[in-house]
Amino acid sequence: MSFMQTAARKVAGPGSALSKVLELTMTPHAIDRYLELVDPMITWDEARARVERVERRTERSVTLTLRTTRQFDGFRAGQFVQLGVVIEGVRQVRCFSPANSDADRGIIELTIGRRPGGLVSNYLYEHAQVGDVYTLTPASGTFQLPEPRPAQTLLIAGGSGITPVLSMARSLVGNGYPGSIALLYYVPSEADNPYTDELKALAEIPSVSVHCIYPESESVDGPINLRPGFFAADHLDTVAPWAEYGQTFMCGPQPLMDSVTALFTERGLTDRLHSEEFVIAMPSVADGDAEGTVTFSGSNKDAENDGRSILEQAESAGLTPEFGCRMGICFSCTAVKKSGCTRNVLTGDLNDDPDQHIQLCVSAPVGDVDIEI
Ligand code: FES
Repeated sequence: MSFMQTAARKVAGPGSALSKVLELTMTPHAIDRYLELVDPMITWDEARARVERVERRTERSVTLTLRTTRQFDGFRAGQFVQLGVVIEGVRQVRCFSPANSDADRGIIELTIGRRPGGLVSNYLYEHAQVGDVYTLTPASGTFQLPEPRPAQTLLIAGGSGITPVLSMARSLVGNGYPGSIALLYYVPSEADNPYTDELKALAEIPSVSVHCIYPESESVDGPINLRPGFFAADHLDTVAPWAEYGQTFMCGPQPLMDSVTALFTERGLTDRLHSEEFVIAMPSVADGDAEGTVTFSGSNKDAENDGRSILEQAESAGLTPEFGCRMGICFSCTAVKKSGCTRNVLTGDLNDDPDQHIQLCVSAPVGDVDIEI
């Protein structure tokens, strides 16, 4: 309880109506809840963003232009923000990278690719409309352009991974970058490309070359004849023969990232490769290695530990704990571990202290564990 809340209780008596009103109006968080009744864009400390434009440019993506409140401090090209969207009364949080230039103030452009079964991506595709207001966290992430800028920059993207690298290209161009930029974009077909026009406009700039590779339609849109199909050495060598002297930034599906990484590793160029991964690969314990029982004591349920994250095991047991990013960033999934040992699957750290708040999405049980959900 904060000092202000304690003071409110002392003045008005715990639990009284007056105390509740004072508590509501005397903490910054509560003030935001109060102010949003007047206008959800007037907030004390929480950053929010209002939808100004909705474009369903492809059947698999929606592009939102959002105006941010003064609390949002901008972003660096390549970083991501966490967008909080209330769906059926529950705030869901997901990470998205802005696609616009980081010189834009007060505006972010998000292109959200629909994921099969994706709660938030499909909700936004189907329901986002002008005037909607979402919460926003400060931008974060180390996937950024270096200072000083490299002399040559290669950008590689696949699918919805276009957004951070497009932001990089737009930011470089907008800041008068004197070097050359090559952009390789892999997307199933032209109909799936949400940025056809913008990429064509970028390609008009003499120092920028853009190749859109459409494996599904076996075609390529770009100034140099490339083999249609997935990334391989010939694409790199044709589009960026200078890659060993420049810097490469990539974002996209795991198979694309794996191919690029393998080639750069083979050539001893990993220090020139930078990547953003939206999905963290969660190591899981092999079936035979997991043991013990996971007790969900708040729900009178339990399950044999199968080694997956507690969030996944809870969902398999029919529970619906709150979650957001599912990758250990947003803390939406935090719950109290009453007893037992858990392992953080990202760091490997063990936690065997009782009554600890843990993140369900990145914690796996090690033996018997009791979680208060
Ligand atoms: S869901 Fe975001 S930290 Fe677990």
